[in-house]
Amino acid sequence: MKYLIGNHKMNLSGSELTAYFKELKKVAKQSENYVGVCVPYVYLPLANKMCKKSKVHFGSQNMYFQPKGAFTGEISANMLKEFNTELVILGHSERRALFGETDELINQKLITTLKEGFTPILCIGETKEERESKQTNKVLKKQLVGALKGVEASALNKMFFAYEPVWAIGTGISATKQDAEKTIKHVKETIAKLYDLTNLDNIIVLYGGSLNSKNVNDILSQPHIDGGLIGGASLKVDEFKKLIDYKG
Ligand code: 13P
Repeated sequence: MKYLIGNHKMNLSGSELTAYFKELKKVAKQSENYVGVCVPYVYLPLANKMCKKSKVHFGSQNMYFQPKGAFTGEISANMLKEFNTELVILGHSERRALFGETDELINQKLITTLKEGFTPILCIGETKEERESKQTNKVLKKQLVGALKGVEASALNKMFFAYEPVWAIGTGISATKQDAEKTIKHVKETIAKLYDLTNLDNIIVLYGGSLNSKNVNDILSQPHIDGGLIGGASLKVDEFKKLIDYKG
């Protein structure tokens, strides 16, 4: 079984999403894979209504760690819970680059999501410059150490990790299957080392970055890649279906 999770980012209107969920529910019903979609906050009530009693898991693209208070524009765990939100994307590279999210902030959010019973999707990834200067493993380790501070080993199988090389996001140029496999294996080994684990099986790592119907078979066939976090190719059910229908 693979995990196929869409990140809609800031796309689709409410009416488009209504039609989308109607189709996606049928696709998910026929699939043996795990199907998820992370929508903008304002569509969580819609997702809750439409995905109830279906195989579609849904979630948000962010969350704030404080329970309540003077945090204009932010959304708390309880607010997400009100609409049965299950997944929460944290530390997406767009949040890091455009909205200044730090490893420390992401760590606070990760601890809160785990405590509140969500399934966080922690995103990590290197930029083009970092890759070209051979800093990839160092950058990923720093992001992992920063985000996982104070997180117990028992939480590792209650969350997803997503390796999303920044240079591959929205560019149409995905990592090669060899590169993605090598880096994801390294991510799993890095996490295992941090926790003194010998078994990598409980660590789920998705690949994200221009995953589409043309490269999905290649990339998901790799032994350490557990699934995908999908942007553009998740916005139309017809295209997303081709990824969801992956058979290993
Ligand atoms: P794309 O699939 O559009 O490259 O986006 C990937 C991503 O950022 C998912 O979180």
